[in-house]
Amino acid sequence: MIAVGSGGRHLEDEIKILGGELIETEIKKFPDGEKYVRVLGSAEEVTVVQSTFAPQDEHIVELILIADALRERGAERLRAVVPYFAYSRQDRVTKEGEPVSVRAVMRALGTYYDELYVFDMHNPETLKFFPGKAVNLSPARAIADYFVERLGDGLVLAPDKGARERARAVAERLGLEFSHFEKERISPTEVRMTPVDVDVRGKNVLIVDDIISTGGTMVRAANLLKEMGAGKVFVAATHGVFAEGAIERVSNAVDELAVTNTIPTPVSRISIVPEIMKL
Ligand code: R5P
Repeated sequence: MIAVGSGGRHLEDEIKILGGELIETEIKKFPDGEKYVRVLGSAEEVTVVQSTFAPQDEHIVELILIADALRERGAERLRAVVPYFAYSRQDRVTKEGEPVSVRAVMRALGTYYDELYVFDMHNPETLKFFPGKAVNLSPARAIADYFVERLGDGLVLAPDKGARERARAVAERLGLEFSHFEKERISPTEVRMTPVDVDVRGKNVLIVDDIISTGGTMVRAANLLKEMGAGKVFVAATHGVFAEGAIERVSNAVDELAVTNTIPTPVSRISIVPEIMKL
């Protein structure tokens, strides 16, 4: 049985189409802003699907309240499927006095959930903070399937070395070459990138990253590829966090932008629901 919170409502129809049985949830806000949650069913084992995009804190609180309600109704085993895990980038202390925020959220969820499944965690190492079983799911197959025809015999690039494995995973499914850019961040909104060690001339290229936020990384990479004589340039990411204006900025610089639906956005064209239904 599956229950969704308001951070999973956008996935509900497809979950049903793919045969998922849902426990209905009622989620409202009290006049003072607190959340009201009610689960209209129960089961011994329940998977709660809740992505924690903005408003992040509300979605996290809902995850906890849904779990408490399910335990109250007798659930014995709870799995959290959190397609986008908020606070995942706050994974270290940079100034004395700061928390390791991702650890704090994982520990809080661990008091209720036995298992945690996330998509493309920013730093997969942080999954060790979850006290139970924690799994990092890959959207590589879904991304590859979406772009297979558009790319032809093109290539897949990561915008930086750290994202190289992601590019490899997509490229391997497509049977294509892959590589990466050398990227240097010079300010929160500016990146300097140096060309890759592959010949992009005349080739369609797919750039793959985990997150698009301001879009600066992708725009810079796409412009470089055009200067280098690439054919069509496509951009994909797992999580479209998108700061204001980012969708337009990236869309204007590339032939197509598509992200997965871990976060609902106008360009969330690649579904991760089939991966969830395999769990
Ligand atoms: C960085 O480590 C991430 O993988 C992304 O490359 C980054 O979050 C993208 O940010 P932006 O869209 O602001 O360039």
